[in-house]
Amino acid sequence: MAVFSERLRTGLAQRQTAGLYRHRVTLNSAQGAKVCIQGREYHNFCSNDYLGLAAHPRVIERFRSAAVEFGVGSGASHLVCGHSAPHHELEEALAEFTGRPRALLFSSGYMANTGVLTSLLQRGDYVFEDRLNHASLLDGGLHSGAHFKRFAHNDVAALEAKLQSVKGPSLVVVDGVFSMDGDTAPLAELSGLCARRDAWLMVDDAHGFGVLGACGVGSTEAAGLDASAVPVLMATLGKAFGTAGAFVAGSELLIEGLIQQSRNYIYTTALPPALAAASLEALSLVREEGWRREFLADLIQRFRRGAQQLALPLMASDSAIQPLLVGDPERALRLSAQLRERGLLISAIRPPTVPAGTSRLRITLSAAHSEEQVDQLLQWLADCWSED
Ligand SMILES: Cc1ncc(COP(=O)(O)O)c(C=O)c1O
Repeated sequence: MAVFSERLRTGLAQRQTAGLYRHRVTLNSAQGAKVCIQGREYHNFCSNDYLGLAAHPRVIERFRSAAVEFGVGSGASHLVCGHSAPHHELEEALAEFTGRPRALLFSSGYMANTGVLTSLLQRGDYVFEDRLNHASLLDGGLHSGAHFKRFAHNDVAALEAKLQSVKGPSLVVVDGVFSMDGDTAPLAELSGLCARRDAWLMVDDAHGFGVLGACGVGSTEAAGLDASAVPVLMATLGKAFGTAGAFVAGSELLIEGLIQQSRNYIYTTALPPALAAASLEALSLVREEGWRREFLADLIQRFRRGAQQLALPLMASDSAIQPLLVGDPERALRLSAQLRERGLLISAIRPPTVPAGTSRLRITLSAAHSEEQVDQLLQWLADCWSED
């Protein structure tokens, strides 16, 4: 129908004019501190491979050997015949690692978040979300049928006022580490508030899992919160773990409820078993090689110190996500292009991913980077910043 084509054309033209058109880059190499695009090597400062595990030889080898044993495709959904031994072993290992009775694998973080929210919540309930929550949390909350309430970013007092004004089952949902800002949620305060108000707290720890806490369990470990303080914990495996997929960890009741009711769990093909095996290997590396977290923390400090000396407008973040606030989307794009010419891969993040007027360069650091790479990054950032 002509109307659909016309609508698409108008939408694309509007994005183009507003400087919001998006393009994909095609890598010709594995993920890593350096990547190859059309024959040229770039320093990669925009990946979420925070620990450098995505192309780790042990993870690759485990993937390969599991593919030989279990094949490539899982063949069916978990409830039909797609649930295999590596999936099961990974769920048990993740439950143990996060200190929760059980864990359940989902094919992606997006599916886990929307799956949990639409299963747990019903019409008449209340869901409270930080306004900077990941899109999958916002979408899940909006589609759940519950009253959907957003609160000001990290503002516990604002949330408290909103919680006080409602009567009904309430779920508070936050990112542990905010994906585009890199700052962390005040989890201890939030869990205290939820306990006082008889609400449940759900944490999406996509960017904290593997990186934060003494053992790498993530934001909840860093905040000293157990399963009773955070009844619903979700994390992804495609970031620090370097593989793909996601899981939800919590009580026996929560996990059985999701298995029986979550449409995102039931009506989709299970992840390839070899991916689950690769995630088990990544988990072993996270446990054995604490130096990756320590080195990453050192690089973050080095970057922040350097950026402060160069007066670059860093956002307030202690995590591996270190955004530089630019404001104007066109300038963010220009800066990203100028850095690219020098050999740096950093993406410009623009609305609607971030609020209007807050376009930024989302710089991410990884344990795979060297100190020299971080120093080079700082130098080129300063050059491009002063030239544009
Ligand atoms: C905070 C957060 N939650 C969820 C997701 C979705 O995870 P996945 O990529 O596995 O769908 C992402 C990013 O992708 C994220 O940054």
